[in-house]
Amino acid sequence: MKKMVIGGIILVVVLMAATFFIAGDAFQGDDYINALTMLGALAIISITIATALKYVNQIKNDTATGELADENWDGIGEYKNPIPSGWGLIFIGTIVWMFWYFFIGYPTNQFSQIGQYNEEVVENNAKFAKVWKNPSDETLVNIGESVFLVQCAPCHGVDAEGIDGKAQDLTHRLSKEQVLYTIKNGAQGHGYNAGAMPPMMATGADAEAIATYIAGGMKGEAPASFATCAGCHGADGKGMNGMAPNLAGYDNTLVSKVLEHGKKSSIGTMPSFKGRINETQTKALTKFINSIQAGE
Ligand code: HEC
Ligand code: HEC
Repeated sequence: MKKMVIGGIILVVVLMAATFFIAGDAFQGDDYINALTMLGALAIISITIATALKYVNQIKNDTATGELADENWDGIGEYKNPIPSGWGLIFIGTIVWMFWYFFIGYPTNQFSQIGQYNEEVVENNAKFAKVWKNPSDETLVNIGESVFLVQCAPCHGVDAEGIDGKAQDLTHRLSKEQVLYTIKNGAQGHGYNAGAMPPMMATGADAEAIATYIAGGMKGEAPASFATCAGCHGADGKGMNGMAPNLAGYDNTLVSKVLEHGKKSSIGTMPSFKGRINETQTKALTKFINSIQAGE
């Protein structure tokens, strides 16, 4: 027994030394919390070892008495003892506690952080919608600018002119190259009412004339060949209320479709902002982008 106690004390010392060796850094400075933690570690280690020693000792030296059960397995018998009452109480208590926990303590419709977050988002969205129910144009431009600077400027640039041609220059609705590219390749994926735009027949001088006209802001007389485009984009190029994109400016339909679906093109990919930009913010972005059109 003496040998075991000495062994136990050595084990406590070794474990404490190891704890200090590994977590020792935390004890520099005068934070008493760390000292308390160390004290706690000492208590846990000592109690564990003392308990283990008690039972090892008992296994070694106990001479049990009592009535043996009839069953006998290769000379190993079992005493007819009642279950320890402490153990029995804890067993029944656990079952009772389980029912309490599921039905009263923490039922499934109970508070959760995620639930609280979702509720607060809905609440704040409602508040946002109420505060900005009838914003003036000036307010919208200001909201649009703040949203733009946070969400869009990383690609389109703080002045919206695009960064090294990696995202569209939003101060010009369409460049000649973009129009020529779309005439040649068509476009799809944004859920306009006309569906996809197939590659167009216009080539050479015809395509050139159309592209120059659109890139120039659709001013003056349209070239005759623009008639093929007008079927979907409208004679004024404004897209006939969501039939096709407005080629003459950035309207709310265009901006919301691009925000919803993202956009992929020869110069790069714009990610979808679905669920991240609300209706008012989309309207504000449209107003803002229109407010910075070159020459207006
Ligand atoms: C990860 C980079 C990136 C971010 C962020 C980004 N865009 Fe874009 N955006 C692009 C690229 C690339 C294009 C060019 C697609 C093309 O050529 O058709 C583009 C094109 C556009 C267009 C033109 C679409 C058209 O059909 O002419 C609009 C409008 C637009 N973005 C608005 C926004 C707004 C508003 C935001 C912020 C909420 C934003 N973008 C954020 C990369 C981005
Ligand atoms: C059958 C209907 C239809 C015809 C005809 C048509 N378009 Fe389109 N166009 C569309 C649709 C729909 C889209 C949008 C496709 C998408 O991205 O989902 C589009 C997109 C475009 C775009 C891209 C706009 C942007 O914001 O990037 C350009 C540029 C364009 N069209 C120019 C033309 C020109 C020029 C012509 C005539 C030569 C023409 N379209 C004829 C339906 C049409």
